[in-house]
Amino acid sequence: MSVLKGRRIVLGVSGGIAAYKAAELVRLLVKAGADVHVVLSEGGARFVTPVTFQALSGNTVWTDLWDARMPNNMAHIDLGRDADAILVAPATADFLARLAQGRADDLLSTLCLARDVPLIVAPAMNRQMWEAPPTQRNLGLIRADGVTVFGPAAGDQACGEVGMGRMLEPEELFERLEGFFVPKLLAGRKVVMTAGPTFEAIDPVRGITNISSGKMGYALARACAQAGAEVVLVSGPVSLPVPADVRCVPVASALQMRAAVLDALPGAQVFIGVAAVADYRPLEAAEHKLKKSAATLTVSLTPNPDILAEVAAREDAPFCVGFAAESRDLDAYAEGKRRNKRLPLLVGNLVSDGMGGDDNTVILYDDTGRHPLPRAPKAEVAQGIVAHLARLLGA
Ligand code: C5P
Repeated sequence: MSVLKGRRIVLGVSGGIAAYKAAELVRLLVKAGADVHVVLSEGGARFVTPVTFQALSGNTVWTDLWDARMPNNMAHIDLGRDADAILVAPATADFLARLAQGRADDLLSTLCLARDVPLIVAPAMNRQMWEAPPTQRNLGLIRADGVTVFGPAAGDQACGEVGMGRMLEPEELFERLEGFFVPKLLAGRKVVMTAGPTFEAIDPVRGITNISSGKMGYALARACAQAGAEVVLVSGPVSLPVPADVRCVPVASALQMRAAVLDALPGAQVFIGVAAVADYRPLEAAEHKLKKSAATLTVSLTPNPDILAEVAAREDAPFCVGFAAESRDLDAYAEGKRRNKRLPLLVGNLVSDGMGGDDNTVILYDDTGRHPLPRAPKAEVAQGIVAHLARLLGA
């Protein structure tokens, strides 16, 4: 269940072309169970009509300070009153300027001035407008006033230029808004993790890999970052977006993964090995593509280093968490692995329950015994693991 379920979010949309992305954001928020109330500035309503937002949010859309539909004519106060947060996305340069000045000459600016709930803005503007000294000055002022700023990102702009000022994508805004409400159980901790499969080359175009999708590891990286940790994610080849505020180090082979982990480890309090690391790699990868001339082909394999066991055996070992996907006898194998690798916490699941899919059923094994978590989407399972980890860390 998303932390946004049941939250009342006022979404302000000011007049920039990124307003079209706000429609998708409303859809994501509503899907997560949030109660979304959209307030459009006059400019916002020129880009996307109130009808669109009304259809997506299922709630009345507000645009006018003098709107008489609110029984007491106090829309500018009542809309924000029971909200959990006001998010303005897109927030134009003009909107930021008016926010910095405390202007109250339309419904959205008045609502922001009359609020006693958190205010978050997602700036969106042309690169030069973003870099202009007045905009940067205004940003400093609103930050000092306690406003949270999401983004912007760099990239292609609607004006044809390339640079800083793009609004974050709806998925990233959604993820950051979720993170805003997640308890900061891992604040101040550095977490290094591995995720995904490894790829062990046989020749330039072939290799040995496995069916790990990386979904569980990426969900856990996201949950750790949302819980306030600094996260370094050493990832094998997967096709997943990197979670917000996570530093991803892409690798292919187990040897590359090991090197990247050792590189990232200094200063880490936690190491989590989620990756399905290949146990063996070809003794040597052929420099050129192998030809199918021979009747049989033998590839000699040599064992890969066990990254998790190596990290856990260090004198300065961080708190180490392992994963074990088994096809049978989960309890016995999981506890065995936990003891052999000297791990304070191991997350076990049956391959049939989790690998590749969107849901997972896991059991946590620690010094006090086994703790099953209910079957749930991987994002939720990840939150359960983070809560348990934080308890063990004494947070
Ligand atoms: O021994 P097994 O591969 O089942 O152990 C699984 C755990 O060990 C996982 O946490 C995995 O990421 C880690 N592991 C590792 N390096 C290996 C093999 C497994 O870090 N070479």
